[in-house]
Parts: sequence; structure tokens; C-alpha cells
Amino acid sequence: MSAQIIDGKEFAAKLRANIAIHVERLKKEHDITAGLAVIIIGHDPASQVYVRNKAKQTLEVGMNSFKYELADDVSEAELLKLIDELNNRDEVHGILVQMPVPKHIDATKIINALNPAKDVDMFHPLNAGKLMTGQIGPVSCTPLGCLMMLRDVHGSLEGKNAVVIGRSNLVGKPMAQLLLRDNCTVTMAHSRTKDLPNVVRQADIVVAAVGRAKMVKGDWIKKGASVIDVGINRIDAPERGQGKTRLVGDVDFESAKENAAFITPVPGGVGPMTIACLLANTVTTACLINGLKPPKDLTA
Ligand code: GUN
Repeated sequence: MSAQIIDGKEFAAKLRANIAIHVERLKKEHDITAGLAVIIIGHDPASQVYVRNKAKQTLEVGMNSFKYELADDVSEAELLKLIDELNNRDEVHGILVQMPVPKHIDATKIINALNPAKDVDMFHPLNAGKLMTGQIGPVSCTPLGCLMMLRDVHGSLEGKNAVVIGRSNLVGKPMAQLLLRDNCTVTMAHSRTKDLPNVVRQADIVVAAVGRAKMVKGDWIKKGASVIDVGINRIDAPERGQGKTRLVGDVDFESAKENAAFITPVPGGVGPMTIACLLANTVTTACLINGLKPPKDLTA
């Protein structure tokens, strides 16, 4: 039997509608308009599209959006000065520096300069530590979106065997922490894992975040497992015409859906949830900065 497809687009639309309600409540009850500042350096077309979408959706849920477009050759000192201003500006509750930054800028220095209370990406080591020790704070957007979808289809994740493939700071590591928090038994697999297919075959939940097109094959997936595909890989698509390309995930969707019970497609799965969770995190930080309890349904 073919898996049920988890529609990330629809899920993200519902989440944004809920975020808009919380944003309105913050305005009415506390006179706070949540605000997100986004900094983009240079003219990378993919980053431009992401940032445009972030700004548009920020405004659509009723938040303030502050966008800073800096030239490719902006100095590290100028960028640090802007971050310092935003760190101290009251209307700004979230700061996102679009990655990657140009080579002459030290990304670690930038991340460490962010006010952790406004770090909606969870890049800052203090926030990574908060996640690890069970304290409330912003949680990396993509893993938060994956967790929300898994909770929605399963209710409780307790006792499930989860395999996370990929160990990046932005996705793999926080995803494993979140699943552990929800009482899964978690295995972190990566490029050096021995016999990856058999490791994945033990999983009730598979989160693939390796960045390799269609790497996870259908016969690696246990019958009835849930498969969350974080990968976004552009491959040639000659069937669509000469020079055409298309997006695929890290999972071979066509074969995996024959064994899985639930699966996210690419595009239209995890992707739309990432921006929605960025907005959710901005509500969370706006609440925490103002001494309010963040809405439970927007946090991990
Ligand atoms: N570049 C690609 N994805 C992301 C993300 O989630 N956050 C930031 N800051 N930059 C990115």
C-alpha cells in the first residue's frame, strides 16, 4: 500500500494562520508587535528568493519585517555594527543572517555576536545548549517543522526508533535532540555510518538530511515507517526538455512510499514548514523577551 503524503504546504498554511492569531493577541493584550529582521549579503539568487519569501510571510502574519540588503564587499566590522544595533532595538525580536555569508566574513564570529534572545535560527551556542538541557528557547526552524509534522501524524512519539541521517548543526543535531526530548530512541547516522541501509531498516521514523539526491532507497524503509525528507537537491531532468532541472529529496520517493506509512514529498514537504517555523520562533522570542510565556503550540 502506498504511504499517506504529508502535505507540508497545507500544514504550513495552518501554522501561519495560528501564528497570525498569536501575533494579533500579542498586539491587543500586550501592545507588542513581533518583529523579524533579516540580513542578506550579496546577490545569490536562491538566497534572494528565500529572503523575499521570509519578508512577505512575516508581513502576512501581521509582524513587522525589517530587511537589510548589504553589498558583497561589506566589511565584517560593518556587519557586526548592524547586528549590535538590532540586538539592542526594541521592535526587533528576531534576527536572521542569511547563510552562507561571503568568505571574507567569519560566520562563527557573526553567530556569536547575535543576541541569543533574538537568535531565531538557533545558531548561537547558548541556544544549542538550551535545547540540549531542556530549557525553552528558539529551536532550529527545519527540525521544529519536522517535529510538528511527526507529532501531528503520530500523536505521541514515545518509544519509537528514530534514525536521523546527517549531523549538521542546523538540522541533524537539533533534530536528534528534539526526538530524544519526545522520548524516541535516537540513532544519529552519517556519511561514516557502517551498513546504513540496515541501520535505517530498524527505524520507525527516518529523518533524511544528508544533501544527496535520492540516497535513501525504498528497500531501506521498514513497512509502516514515517519518512521525513529534508533534502532539497536540484538534478537534471531531460524528460522535461533540454537543460531542464527538477528538485528531489534525499529519499527515493517513488520506492520509499511503497513501504512507508507517512512520507513528506520534495518539494512541498519540509520546505514550506521552515519559514513558518521561523515566524513561530519570532513569536516565541517576542514573548520571552517581554517576560511572557510563549504559546505552547508554537514551540517544541
Ligand atoms: N540559508 C539556508 N537556510 C538557512 C536558514 O535556515 N537560516 C539562515 N540564516 N540561512 C539559511
